[in-house]
Amino acid sequence: MERVSVVTGVASGIGKATAELLRLRGERVIGVDLHDADVIADLSSPEGLEAMVRDVDAASGGVVDSVYSIAGVLVDSPLTVKVNFFGMVGTLVGLRPLLAKSEAPRAQGIASLASISPVDDELVDAMLAGERDAALARAEAIVGSQIPFFIYNSTKQAFARWVRRHAATPEWAGASITLNAVAPGAVLTPMIATMFDDPQIVDEQEAIPAGSALLKDVAQPSEIAALLGWLGSTANSHLCGQIIFIDGGSEVVMRQDSTW
Ligand code: NAI
Repeated sequence: MERVSVVTGVASGIGKATAELLRLRGERVIGVDLHDADVIADLSSPEGLEAMVRDVDAASGGVVDSVYSIAGVLVDSPLTVKVNFFGMVGTLVGLRPLLAKSEAPRAQGIASLASISPVDDELVDAMLAGERDAALARAEAIVGSQIPFFIYNSTKQAFARWVRRHAATPEWAGASITLNAVAPGAVLTPMIATMFDDPQIVDEQEAIPAGSALLKDVAQPSEIAALLGWLGSTANSHLCGQIIFIDGGSEVVMRQDSTW
């Protein structure tokens, strides 16, 4: 039977590439985004998430086989907390009842190499506790702090840790739903297209430890889509609760053999 997949962030970058891959292999894709999508929804608000779930329920006939929670933003503001954490988690949790009716349900989202970069612990803790108001207030307080992408890094660490906390629970693995995340390094999409115009960021890239044998080119969105697509397919029945770094070796440079 035709698999039905939901892809958020479908209008651009990794989401667009994922939807293309899934359609090529014969799946029915319900794309979600702010524009250019089957379901137009703003995933930054609880009301937008609720409307998205209602529209996906109607469009799918009540059963979804795979959810790719991809939509995200990279801005130094509380919006990043709304979309990257509460939107990404809210998509997975909101669509879980539709996944639970599938014979081979799969759920996956996008963390980032940024998840192991400096974060604001108070912000991460508030997100993980589900304290939306506290998280947004903390993000507002640290806007413009001297560490670039502090808020973004925090949302990605919180999402990765949320996956680790929930994958092996009755709601996910216990309901036969695999739950995983991929953690890309730099991927050539509109999100980062102008980043390398910023001399501060170029300096940081060049600060990577000398002698590290990294794959230096940025990845193409199709490569991230291929990994996501496997996680979300019937070929994957046992990979669950993992954060898979796809970053040219950057994670191993940063964590060496401290994590295995
Ligand atoms: P992109 O900017 O090309 O695409 C993001 C999509 O999300 C856009 O179509 C946008 O309209 C949608 N979106 C944003 N806010 C939304 C909202 N409130 N409601 C619904 N849709 C919304 O970005 P890209 O690079 O494809 O990013 C996809 C995911 O991958 C993000 O979660 C990002 O953080 C993550 N990521 C990207 C990396 C990169 O280097 N491009 C590296 C690591 C992670």
